[in-house]
Amino acid sequence: MRTSRHFFSLEGIDGSGKSTHIEKLAAALEAEGYSVVRLREPGGAKISERIREILLDASFKGVMADKTELLLYNAARAQVIAEIIQPALDAGKIVIADRFAWSTFAYQGYARGLGAEYVQKLTEITCGDCFPELTVVLDLTVEQSRARTAKRGGAPDRLEQEKADFFERVRQGYLAAARDYPDCVAAIDVDRPFEEVSADLIKLVKSRL
Ligand code: TMP
Repeated sequence: MRTSRHFFSLEGIDGSGKSTHIEKLAAALEAEGYSVVRLREPGGAKISERIREILLDASFKGVMADKTELLLYNAARAQVIAEIIQPALDAGKIVIADRFAWSTFAYQGYARGLGAEYVQKLTEITCGDCFPELTVVLDLTVEQSRARTAKRGGAPDRLEQEKADFFERVRQGYLAAARDYPDCVAAIDVDRPFEEVSADLIKLVKSRL
């Protein structure tokens, strides 16, 4: 897979602190004069946000077929690439995505069991050459994730209702990606003070600029 310069994504199971880390990372890059576009996946464009609502709807638990799930994540991604990501990269901006295709690899490929090769074929169709040059996995154990997310309010969405063994497989998927694709996936341990993790993340991203 060819990668796109200045395109970065953050990955991790729930509670890894992705969104807070993205804010700090973007602020650090903007302070150096870079123009930064942030987005979340699934989402980031109006159509993609509508697809997100379907994907996370808790009433579809046990109803949505695994292949439907896989295709909807890819449909949401195709739209945000065409509408937001590729135009921003073409304009010389930095793009930081809160999740991208490695989520599909870990959640649908590994945890749902659809398989890495199968997911990869579809990723090539969806993304073409629009793929992050670096993805940072914010790694934590499933127990740490549960402890962190237990403090949150609100009803769990369809994915959040999955059991611990599902998230263990997601985590193993991410670690396999970091092991097998070291040029474009790096895992960092987030069971450390926030500032320390943030400094490591910013350093990793800046090393690619
Ligand atoms: P989040 O943005 O709140 O993390 O919610 C997105 C959920 O969707 C999260 O549980 C991870 C899951 N997901 C997949 O299963 N596959 C994907 O390709 C993406 C982008 C997310």
